Amino acid sequence: MQPSERPRVAHFSSGPCAKRPGWALSALADACVARSHRSKPGKAKLAEVIERSRTLLGLPADYRLAIVPGSDTGAVEMALWSLLGARGVDVLSWEAFGKGWVVDLAQQLKLADLRVFDAPYGALPALDAVDGGRDIVFTWNGTTSGVCLPDGDWIPADRQGLTICDATSAVFAVELPWPLLDVVTWSWQKVLGGEGGHGMIALSPSAVARLESHVPAWPVPKLFQLAKGGRLIEGIFKGETINTPSLLAVEDALDGLRWAASIGGLPALIRRVRANDAVIDDWVKRTAWVDYLAASPSIRSPTSVCLRLADRTLDARAQALVAAGIAERLEREGVACDIGAYRDAPPGLRLWAGATVEAGDLTALTPWLDWAYGEARAAPGLAA
Ligand SMILES: Cc1ncc(COP(=O)(O)O)c(C=O)c1O
Repeated sequence: MQPSERPRVAHFSSGPCAKRPGWALSALADACVARSHRSKPGKAKLAEVIERSRTLLGLPADYRLAIVPGSDTGAVEMALWSLLGARGVDVLSWEAFGKGWVVDLAQQLKLADLRVFDAPYGALPALDAVDGGRDIVFTWNGTTSGVCLPDGDWIPADRQGLTICDATSAVFAVELPWPLLDVVTWSWQKVLGGEGGHGMIALSPSAVARLESHVPAWPVPKLFQLAKGGRLIEGIFKGETINTPSLLAVEDALDGLRWAASIGGLPALIRRVRANDAVIDDWVKRTAWVDYLAASPSIRSPTSVCLRLADRTLDARAQALVAAGIAERLEREGVACDIGAYRDAPPGLRLWAGATVEAGDLTALTPWLDWAYGEARAAPGLAA
Protein backbone atom coordinates (compact mmCIF):
# COMPACT_ATOMS: atom_id res chain seq x y z
CA MET A 1 0.00 0.00 0.00
CA GLN A 2 1.21 3.47 -0.84
CA PRO A 3 1.77 5.43 2.39
CA SER A 4 -0.57 8.38 2.87
CA GLU A 5 1.72 10.82 4.68
CA ARG A 6 4.40 12.58 2.66
CA PRO A 7 7.52 14.40 3.86
CA ARG A 8 6.70 18.13 3.98
CA VAL A 9 9.96 18.80 2.15
CA ALA A 10 11.17 16.27 -0.42
CA HIS A 11 14.74 17.58 -0.62
CA PHE A 12 17.23 14.88 0.33
CA SER A 13 19.96 15.74 -2.20
CA SER A 14 23.55 15.59 -0.97
CA GLY A 15 24.37 18.93 -2.55
CA PRO A 16 22.95 21.42 -2.99
CA CYS A 17 21.19 20.29 0.17
CA ALA A 18 17.80 21.15 1.66
CA LYS A 19 17.17 24.76 2.63
CA ARG A 20 16.78 25.50 6.34
CA PRO A 21 13.26 24.95 7.70
CA GLY A 22 10.94 27.79 6.72
CA TRP A 23 13.19 29.13 3.96
CA ALA A 24 11.55 31.17 1.19
CA LEU A 25 12.97 33.34 -1.58
CA SER A 26 12.02 36.35 0.53
CA ALA A 27 14.96 35.40 2.80
CA LEU A 28 17.14 36.99 0.10
CA ALA A 29 15.26 40.31 0.02
CA ASP A 30 18.16 42.17 1.61
CA ALA A 31 20.73 40.86 -0.92
CA CYS A 32 23.20 43.46 -2.11
CA VAL A 33 22.47 42.74 -5.78
CA ALA A 34 23.52 45.04 -8.63
CA ARG A 35 26.16 46.58 -6.41
CA SER A 36 29.90 46.11 -6.62
CA HIS A 37 31.12 43.35 -4.34
CA ARG A 38 33.84 45.85 -3.43
CA SER A 39 31.33 48.51 -2.38
CA LYS A 40 31.05 49.15 1.35
CA PRO A 41 27.79 47.17 1.77
CA GLY A 42 28.99 44.38 -0.56
CA LYS A 43 32.22 43.92 1.33
CA ALA A 44 30.38 44.10 4.64
CA LYS A 45 28.17 41.15 3.58
CA LEU A 46 31.22 39.09 2.62
CA ALA A 47 33.00 39.97 5.85
CA GLU A 48 29.86 38.99 7.78
CA VAL A 49 29.93 35.52 6.19
CA ILE A 50 33.49 35.11 7.44
CA GLU A 51 32.78 36.41 10.94
CA ARG A 52 29.55 34.45 11.41
CA SER A 53 31.19 31.24 10.16
CA ARG A 54 34.14 31.74 12.49
CA THR A 55 31.87 32.31 15.50
CA LEU A 56 29.48 29.46 14.72
CA LEU A 57 32.32 26.98 14.32
CA GLY A 58 34.36 28.25 17.27
CA LEU A 59 37.43 28.54 15.05
CA PRO A 60 40.66 28.99 17.07
CA ALA A 61 41.43 32.71 17.36
CA ASP A 62 44.72 32.38 15.47
CA TYR A 63 43.16 30.63 12.43
CA ARG A 64 42.50 32.70 9.32
CA LEU A 65 39.29 32.25 7.31
CA ALA A 66 38.75 33.31 3.70
CA ILE A 67 36.12 33.19 0.97
CA VAL A 68 37.63 31.73 -2.20
CA PRO A 69 36.53 30.91 -5.76
CA GLY A 70 35.23 27.59 -7.00
CA SER A 71 33.20 26.28 -4.08
CA ASP A 72 34.82 23.45 -2.08
CA THR A 73 36.78 22.12 -5.06
CA GLY A 74 38.32 25.56 -5.54
CA ALA A 75 39.27 25.76 -1.87
CA VAL A 76 40.86 22.29 -1.83
CA GLU A 77 42.78 22.76 -5.07
CA MET A 78 43.94 26.19 -3.97
CA ALA A 79 45.44 24.57 -0.87
CA LEU A 80 47.05 21.74 -2.85
CA TRP A 81 48.54 24.05 -5.46
CA SER A 82 49.72 26.69 -2.99
CA LEU A 83 51.03 24.60 -0.11
CA LEU A 84 52.39 21.32 -1.37
CA GLY A 85 55.83 20.39 -2.64
CA ALA A 86 57.75 21.35 0.49
CA ARG A 87 57.56 17.81 1.97
CA GLY A 88 56.47 14.32 1.05
CA VAL A 89 52.68 13.89 0.97
CA ASP A 90 50.39 11.18 2.34
CA VAL A 91 46.90 11.16 0.85
CA LEU A 92 43.97 9.15 2.19
CA SER A 93 41.08 8.31 -0.10
CA TRP A 94 38.01 6.13 0.21
CA GLU A 95 35.40 7.57 -2.16
CA ALA A 96 35.00 9.72 -5.27
CA PHE A 97 36.15 13.08 -3.95
CA GLY A 98 39.21 11.79 -2.11
CA LYS A 99 40.07 9.73 -5.16
CA GLY A 100 39.87 12.97 -7.17
CA TRP A 101 42.41 14.65 -4.87
CA VAL A 102 44.74 11.69 -5.51
CA VAL A 103 44.49 12.39 -9.24
CA ASP A 104 45.39 16.04 -8.62
CA LEU A 105 48.46 15.08 -6.61
CA ALA A 106 49.68 12.25 -8.84
CA GLN A 107 48.77 13.42 -12.32
CA GLN A 108 48.48 17.21 -12.16
CA LEU A 109 51.08 18.22 -9.58
CA LYS A 110 53.05 15.01 -10.30
CA LEU A 111 54.40 14.88 -6.74
CA ALA A 112 57.54 12.73 -6.66
CA ASP A 113 57.18 11.74 -3.01
CA LEU A 114 53.54 10.69 -2.70
CA ARG A 115 52.06 7.83 -0.68
CA VAL A 116 48.46 6.91 -1.43
CA PHE A 117 46.35 5.13 1.19
CA ASP A 118 43.23 4.06 -0.63
CA ALA A 119 40.26 2.00 0.52
CA PRO A 120 37.23 0.69 -1.37
CA TYR A 121 33.75 2.20 -0.99
CA GLY A 122 32.42 1.39 2.46
CA ALA A 123 35.77 1.24 4.25
CA LEU A 124 38.44 3.60 5.60
CA PRO A 125 42.15 3.16 4.82
CA ALA A 126 44.57 2.30 7.66
CA LEU A 127 44.88 5.62 9.45
CA ASP A 128 47.86 4.74 11.63
CA ALA A 129 50.14 4.45 8.58
CA VAL A 130 50.29 8.22 8.04
CA ASP A 131 53.47 10.04 8.93
CA GLY A 132 53.37 13.40 10.78
CA GLY A 133 56.63 14.36 9.11
CA ARG A 134 54.75 14.60 5.83
CA ASP A 135 51.79 16.65 4.64
CA ILE A 136 48.52 14.71 4.91
CA VAL A 137 45.56 15.25 2.56
CA PHE A 138 42.16 13.73 3.31
CA THR A 139 38.38 14.16 3.24
CA TRP A 140 36.62 14.16 6.62
CA ASN A 141 33.19 12.95 5.57
CA GLY A 142 33.08 10.96 2.34
CA THR A 143 29.85 12.11 0.77
CA THR A 144 29.76 9.46 -1.94
CA SER A 145 30.33 6.39 0.25
CA GLY A 146 28.79 7.54 3.52
CA VAL A 147 32.04 6.84 5.33
CA CYS A 148 33.19 9.49 7.80
CA LEU A 149 36.24 9.75 10.03
CA PRO A 150 35.18 8.96 13.61
CA ASP A 151 37.78 11.33 15.12
CA GLY A 152 41.20 12.85 14.61
CA ASP A 153 43.02 10.69 17.16
CA TRP A 154 45.25 9.30 14.40
CA ILE A 155 46.61 12.75 13.50
CA PRO A 156 49.96 13.40 15.21
CA ALA A 157 49.61 16.50 17.43
CA ASP A 158 53.38 17.09 17.15
CA ARG A 159 53.41 16.85 13.35
CA GLN A 160 55.82 18.82 11.20
CA GLY A 161 53.75 18.48 8.06
CA LEU A 162 50.39 20.11 7.37
CA THR A 163 46.98 18.41 7.48
CA ILE A 164 44.74 19.47 4.59
CA CYS A 165 41.14 18.44 5.15
CA ASP A 166 38.20 18.59 2.73
CA ALA A 167 35.45 18.97 5.33
CA THR A 168 32.58 20.12 3.15
CA SER A 169 30.10 17.48 4.34
CA ALA A 170 31.38 17.56 7.92
CA VAL A 171 31.63 21.17 8.94
CA PHE A 172 28.56 22.41 10.93
CA ALA A 173 27.46 18.75 11.32
CA VAL A 174 30.10 16.95 13.40
CA GLU A 175 32.76 18.06 15.87
CA LEU A 176 36.08 18.80 14.19
CA PRO A 177 39.39 18.74 16.13
CA TRP A 178 40.54 22.16 14.88
CA PRO A 179 44.06 22.12 16.41
CA LEU A 180 44.78 18.95 14.41
CA LEU A 181 43.63 20.49 11.12
CA ASP A 182 45.83 23.04 9.34
CA VAL A 183 43.65 23.60 6.30
CA VAL A 184 39.90 23.03 6.34
CA THR A 185 37.65 23.66 3.34
CA TRP A 186 33.92 23.71 2.72
CA SER A 187 31.20 25.14 0.50
CA TRP A 188 27.96 26.99 1.20
CA GLN A 189 25.51 24.45 -0.20
CA LYS A 190 25.92 21.53 2.20
CA VAL A 191 25.06 21.45 5.90
CA LEU A 192 23.60 24.98 6.04
CA GLY A 193 21.75 24.60 2.74
CA GLY A 194 23.05 27.73 0.99
CA GLU A 195 23.31 28.36 -2.72
CA GLY A 196 26.47 27.06 -4.37
CA GLY A 197 29.10 29.64 -5.19
CA HIS A 198 32.31 30.51 -3.46
CA GLY A 199 34.13 28.22 -1.04
CA MET A 200 35.62 28.71 2.41
CA ILE A 201 39.16 27.94 3.55
CA ALA A 202 40.43 28.03 7.14
CA LEU A 203 44.18 28.15 7.74
CA SER A 204 46.16 27.41 10.90
CA PRO A 205 49.25 29.45 11.80
CA SER A 206 51.41 26.59 10.39
CA ALA A 207 49.58 26.76 7.07
CA VAL A 208 50.08 30.53 6.95
CA ALA A 209 53.78 30.08 7.74
CA ARG A 210 54.07 27.60 4.85
CA LEU A 211 52.34 30.02 2.49
CA GLU A 212 54.75 32.77 3.48
CA SER A 213 57.89 30.65 3.17
CA HIS A 214 57.28 28.19 0.35
CA VAL A 215 57.22 28.95 -3.37
CA PRO A 216 55.61 26.10 -5.33
CA ALA A 217 57.63 24.61 -8.19
CA TRP A 218 54.58 24.79 -10.48
CA PRO A 219 52.60 27.76 -11.77
CA VAL A 220 49.75 28.92 -9.50
CA PRO A 221 46.91 30.63 -11.40
CA LYS A 222 45.73 33.98 -10.04
CA LEU A 223 42.49 32.31 -8.98
CA PHE A 224 44.39 29.98 -6.61
CA GLN A 225 46.76 32.48 -5.05
CA LEU A 226 46.67 32.84 -1.28
CA ALA A 227 50.05 34.58 -0.96
CA LYS A 228 52.12 36.91 -3.06
CA GLY A 229 55.77 37.88 -2.70
CA GLY A 230 56.12 35.88 0.52
CA ARG A 231 53.09 37.55 2.19
CA LEU A 232 49.56 36.34 2.71
CA ILE A 233 47.03 38.21 0.54
CA GLU A 234 45.21 39.85 3.46
CA GLY A 235 42.18 41.10 1.52
CA ILE A 236 40.64 37.68 0.95
CA PHE A 237 40.35 37.19 4.72
CA LYS A 238 38.29 40.37 5.00
CA GLY A 239 35.83 39.84 2.17
CA GLU A 240 37.87 41.18 -0.74
CA THR A 241 37.37 38.06 -2.84
CA ILE A 242 39.74 37.31 -5.73
CA ASN A 243 36.96 37.25 -8.32
CA THR A 244 33.33 38.31 -8.32
CA PRO A 245 30.96 36.35 -6.05
CA SER A 246 27.17 36.17 -6.44
CA LEU A 247 25.80 38.52 -3.82
CA LEU A 248 22.55 36.57 -3.96
CA ALA A 249 24.46 33.44 -2.91
CA VAL A 250 26.25 35.49 -0.25
CA GLU A 251 22.89 36.56 1.18
CA ASP A 252 21.76 32.95 1.26
CA ALA A 253 24.95 31.91 3.05
CA LEU A 254 24.18 34.61 5.62
CA ASP A 255 20.60 33.36 5.95
CA GLY A 256 21.84 29.86 6.78
CA LEU A 257 24.37 31.18 9.28
CA ARG A 258 21.76 33.39 10.98
CA TRP A 259 19.33 30.47 11.18
CA ALA A 260 22.02 28.27 12.73
CA ALA A 261 22.78 30.90 15.35
CA SER A 262 19.07 31.39 16.06
CA ILE A 263 18.48 27.73 16.90
CA GLY A 264 21.45 27.48 19.29
CA GLY A 265 24.57 27.31 17.13
CA LEU A 266 26.80 24.34 16.48
CA PRO A 267 25.52 22.13 19.35
CA ALA A 268 21.98 22.52 18.00
CA LEU A 269 23.09 21.69 14.46
CA ILE A 270 24.88 18.58 15.68
CA ARG A 271 21.81 17.56 17.72
CA ARG A 272 19.64 17.83 14.61
CA VAL A 273 22.09 15.69 12.61
CA ARG A 274 22.11 13.05 15.36
CA ALA A 275 18.33 12.99 15.55
CA ASN A 276 18.16 12.46 11.79
CA ASP A 277 20.75 9.72 11.98
CA ALA A 278 18.71 7.99 14.69
CA VAL A 279 15.57 8.01 12.51
CA ILE A 280 17.39 6.39 9.60
CA ASP A 281 19.24 3.93 11.80
CA ASP A 282 16.04 2.79 13.48
CA TRP A 283 14.54 2.10 10.04
CA VAL A 284 17.65 0.34 8.64
CA LYS A 285 17.80 -1.92 11.70
CA ARG A 286 14.24 -3.14 11.22
CA THR A 287 14.34 -3.31 7.40
CA ALA A 288 15.64 -6.49 5.84
CA TRP A 289 16.07 -5.19 2.28
CA VAL A 290 18.48 -2.37 3.05
CA ASP A 291 21.88 -1.96 4.66
CA TYR A 292 24.56 0.69 4.97
CA LEU A 293 27.41 0.87 2.49
CA ALA A 294 29.67 1.80 5.43
CA ALA A 295 31.21 -1.37 6.83
CA SER A 296 30.78 -0.46 10.52
CA PRO A 297 28.74 1.97 12.66
CA SER A 298 31.83 3.84 13.92
CA ILE A 299 32.73 5.07 10.42
CA ARG A 300 29.20 5.77 9.20
CA SER A 301 28.45 9.27 8.00
CA PRO A 302 25.57 10.85 9.91
CA THR A 303 24.84 13.32 7.11
CA SER A 304 25.44 11.51 3.83
CA VAL A 305 23.75 8.20 4.39
CA CYS A 306 24.69 5.74 1.66
CA LEU A 307 22.56 2.61 1.49
CA ARG A 308 22.85 -0.59 -0.47
CA LEU A 309 20.36 -3.33 -1.18
CA ALA A 310 20.82 -6.26 1.14
CA ASP A 311 19.30 -8.82 -1.25
CA ARG A 312 22.31 -10.92 -2.32
CA THR A 313 20.26 -12.77 -4.93
CA LEU A 314 20.37 -9.64 -7.10
CA ASP A 315 23.44 -9.17 -9.28
CA ALA A 316 25.03 -5.72 -9.68
CA ARG A 317 22.89 -4.86 -12.71
CA ALA A 318 19.67 -5.81 -10.95
CA GLN A 319 20.70 -3.87 -7.82
CA ALA A 320 21.31 -0.78 -9.95
CA LEU A 321 17.91 -1.21 -11.62
CA VAL A 322 16.04 -1.59 -8.34
CA ALA A 323 17.85 1.35 -6.73
CA ALA A 324 17.18 3.55 -9.76
CA GLY A 325 13.55 2.38 -9.74
CA ILE A 326 13.16 3.46 -6.10
CA ALA A 327 14.74 6.87 -6.72
CA GLU A 328 12.64 7.49 -9.85
CA ARG A 329 9.35 6.47 -8.22
CA LEU A 330 9.91 8.65 -5.18
CA GLU A 331 10.89 11.65 -7.27
CA ARG A 332 7.80 11.16 -9.46
CA GLU A 333 5.61 10.98 -6.35
CA GLY A 334 7.16 14.22 -5.05
CA VAL A 335 8.34 12.34 -1.97
CA ALA A 336 12.14 12.40 -2.32
CA CYS A 337 14.37 14.13 -4.87
CA ASP A 338 17.90 13.16 -5.89
CA ILE A 339 18.39 10.08 -3.70
CA GLY A 340 20.22 7.86 -6.20
CA ALA A 341 23.79 6.85 -5.31
CA TYR A 342 26.60 9.04 -6.66
CA ARG A 343 27.48 8.15 -10.25
CA ASP A 344 30.88 6.58 -9.41
CA ALA A 345 29.68 4.81 -6.25
CA PRO A 346 28.26 1.26 -5.98
CA PRO A 347 24.54 1.10 -6.82
CA GLY A 348 22.21 2.13 -4.03
CA LEU A 349 20.57 5.13 -2.43
CA ARG A 350 21.91 8.21 -0.71
CA LEU A 351 19.91 10.28 1.74
CA TRP A 352 21.20 13.60 2.97
CA ALA A 353 20.39 13.96 6.66
CA GLY A 354 22.26 17.15 7.52
CA ALA A 355 21.09 19.89 9.84
CA THR A 356 18.59 21.51 7.47
CA VAL A 357 16.65 18.27 7.05
CA GLU A 358 13.79 17.71 9.49
CA ALA A 359 13.68 14.40 11.39
CA GLY A 360 9.93 14.29 10.79
CA ASP A 361 10.49 14.33 7.03
CA LEU A 362 12.85 11.36 7.29
CA THR A 363 10.30 9.55 9.45
CA ALA A 364 7.68 10.16 6.77
CA LEU A 365 10.07 9.07 4.03
CA THR A 366 10.93 5.60 5.33
CA PRO A 367 7.55 3.91 4.60
CA TRP A 368 7.77 5.36 1.10
CA LEU A 369 11.20 3.79 0.65
CA ASP A 370 9.71 0.42 1.63
CA TRP A 371 6.81 0.94 -0.75
CA ALA A 372 9.07 1.96 -3.64
CA TYR A 373 11.36 -1.00 -3.00
CA GLY A 374 8.40 -3.37 -3.22
CA GLU A 375 7.30 -1.81 -6.50
CA ALA A 376 10.78 -1.71 -8.04
CA ARG A 377 11.62 -5.26 -6.91
CA ALA A 378 8.43 -6.57 -8.49
CA ALA A 379 9.13 -4.86 -11.83
CA PRO A 380 9.36 -7.19 -14.83
CA GLY A 381 12.87 -8.11 -15.99
CA LEU A 382 14.37 -8.78 -12.57
CA ALA A 383 15.44 -12.26 -11.49
CA ALA A 384 13.27 -13.70 -8.71
C1 LIG B 1 33.61 15.51 0.05
C2 LIG B 1 33.37 16.45 -1.09
N1 LIG B 1 34.40 17.12 -1.61
C3 LIG B 1 34.22 17.98 -2.63
C4 LIG B 1 33.00 18.20 -3.18
C5 LIG B 1 32.83 19.16 -4.33
O1 LIG B 1 32.26 20.30 -3.81
P1 LIG B 1 31.91 21.57 -4.66
O2 LIG B 1 30.88 21.19 -5.64
O3 LIG B 1 31.43 22.52 -3.60
O4 LIG B 1 33.18 22.03 -5.30
C6 LIG B 1 31.88 17.54 -2.66
C7 LIG B 1 30.54 17.73 -3.26
O5 LIG B 1 29.60 17.06 -2.97
C8 LIG B 1 32.08 16.65 -1.59
O6 LIG B 1 31.04 16.00 -1.07
